Amino acid sequence: MVNIILGCQWGDEGKGKIVDYFAQDADVVVRVQGGANAGHTIVVGDKQYILHLIPSGILNPKTVCVIGQGVVLDPGVLLAEMKLLQDLGVVLENRLLVSNRAHLVMPYHRVLDGLKEQSASNKIGTTGRGIGPTYMDKAARTGVRMVDLLKPDKMRQKIAQNLGYVNQIVSKVYGAPEIEAEPIIEECLAFGGKVDRLITDTGAFLNQAIRENKKILIEGAQGSLLDIDLGTYPYVTSSNTTAGGACTGSGIGPTKINKVIGVVKAYTTRVGGGPLPTELAEEAGNNLRKKGNEFGATTGRPRRCGWFDAVVVKFAAEASGVGELVITKLDVLDDLLSVKICTGYEHEGVLLKHFPADLEILEQVRPVYEEMPGWQASTVSAKSFAELPLFAQNYLNRLEQLAGVPIKLISVGPDRNQTIIR
Ligand code: GDP
Ligand code: IMO
Ligand code: MG
Repeated sequence: MVNIILGCQWGDEGKGKIVDYFAQDADVVVRVQGGANAGHTIVVGDKQYILHLIPSGILNPKTVCVIGQGVVLDPGVLLAEMKLLQDLGVVLENRLLVSNRAHLVMPYHRVLDGLKEQSASNKIGTTGRGIGPTYMDKAARTGVRMVDLLKPDKMRQKIAQNLGYVNQIVSKVYGAPEIEAEPIIEECLAFGGKVDRLITDTGAFLNQAIRENKKILIEGAQGSLLDIDLGTYPYVTSSNTTAGGACTGSGIGPTKINKVIGVVKAYTTRVGGGPLPTELAEEAGNNLRKKGNEFGATTGRPRRCGWFDAVVVKFAAEASGVGELVITKLDVLDDLLSVKICTGYEHEGVLLKHFPADLEILEQVRPVYEEMPGWQASTVSAKSFAELPLFAQNYLNRLEQLAGVPIKLISVGPDRNQTIIR
């Protein structure tokens, strides 16, 4: 059985918590796209873990975690994350595999990411983790892959060749100092020596696991509106965050997928640039940010906050064939007198039929809101849907009606046990 868990907004929907929750009953958890731009938070008891590359199943001792072929992998981040987990007592032996086809994020990718952002007039507000430039090299067919680590001479040649080109850009376009090849080659050689046991044909491993009827969870990173094809381009990340990316990034065919589960916050957030139609102004936005602790798990940047946008969630759910929704952070709305839901976009007096591709239009739309009474009661220790305040139930019922997808799980706090099955 293969289930995909992905975000249906602009990222940070609480995927880490939900993957960890479902992983209690999974054999394998796979990351399939993105890289260390992701920041997935898991809270178990009094411990909090923030994972950037290693799948959120790692805290369940029986789960094998796979970094799939669609991920771009930063060696330094992986080693640091492995060490952090080991120091916290998490056993990694025989529990972590890395695809031989995954591309490596090189120090020069991070430099290029930074230089491009610094000089751009319309900043995307990337995480600075080198994601865009690494996927550029992948598409240009000049990337360095995990499999290359196993052939040091070839890898050395590839890196030196890439730097010949990169240094032209760095020095001539940006006027920045050139980057030396040797320290990078040394770092990669050392990395290869440390992780060679983990490098596997993970597609073959996953398909064998399917034949053995194992339970596999695919963990999406970022959110659907950050998808390079579907999202609010150019304010997107450089990978496919929707369900299609889960197949190409894992090597699991679409006919083997059983369910796509969409994770959404009870409101909306976004980090970085780009339109956010339901964005709240100063005070209300600040209140939500404070209550929801909306600061980036990777960069620490304050997240922009807004009301729940049903147009976005419906659009995302359709693109990935989402069959079930998980609503997170319902508790963050507990104190509010009333809550608003965006049910449509109006542009020049006309209600739009589709989510606009033209960002100028998206920036100008007027969200059409429906206002509902707040529940003004704590939800953090509710154990069932029936235990939730009636107005909270009404809110959830309305969300699922507008999104067109049933809500099957509700999260009312960061902890594993603050999760309600409906
Ligand atoms: P991800 O990138 O989708 O995994 O989400 P992040 O980890 O970046 O951000 C979600 C944040 O919300 C984390 O700090 C979680 O611990 C926290 N969180 C998750 N679910 C809930 C919830 O239901 N209520 C509250 N208050 N916090 C939650
Ligand atoms: P998780 O998995 C929220 C955003 C960045 C920026 C844009 C491009 O934790 O939900 P990139 O570094 O990918 O080139 O940046 O995408 N972004 C995220 N926003 N959550 C994430 O991951 C994100 N990963 C990238 O802020 O706007
Ligand atoms: Mg995050």
